[in-house]
Amino acid sequence: MATLKPTSRYAGARGQTPALAELVDSVRAVVTEGRSAADTAAAVGERLGPYLSREDLLRPDQREGDQDAYRQHLLHAEEDGSFSLVSLVWLPGQRTPIHDHVAWCVVGVHQGAEVEIRYRLVGDGARQYLVPAHTGVNPLHSTCGFAPPGDIHEVHNDSDAKAISIHVYGADIRQLGSSVRRRYDLPVKAG
Ligand SMILES: [Fe+2]
Repeated sequence: MATLKPTSRYAGARGQTPALAELVDSVRAVVTEGRSAADTAAAVGERLGPYLSREDLLRPDQREGDQDAYRQHLLHAEEDGSFSLVSLVWLPGQRTPIHDHVAWCVVGVHQGAEVEIRYRLVGDGARQYLVPAHTGVNPLHSTCGFAPPGDIHEVHNDSDAKAISIHVYGADIRQLGSSVRRRYDLPVKAG
């Protein structure tokens, strides 16, 4: 097992692996440049990519799932609230609700693969509904980034093996609990 390096910036109790501490430093260097949300997401994706194949990135407990629902592990919350990292663990068949985010977001697949469906919100008031706009597989070690608005999506694991992804959010997950802005319990209609 990798040596763990305690850091005052880490929001958890047991410290970060050296690889994760390195990744956090790299993300911080991008975020402090103060670019637009879209440019920050793109640049953070480039920094995250090389770490996705690192087997020493996460502690074993940060790779654990939950039989009841996909599980979030907080990996880092920056002291000034400017960004956070989490690992999300999906056991076979688990899925997120349809949702969007409060801030820019970068997702990198660390283990397995994830299916992502993006939606368009149509109509207004009581007549709102969702139309699937794109369905794709985020393969192992791939990254994708996005910034609201227009980021309504869901993610699920349709394989028979565990999937793990690393998420970087331009928000303070320690304060918010999650980066979800809104959950969409609306009818889904074919376009
Ligand atoms: Fe999401």
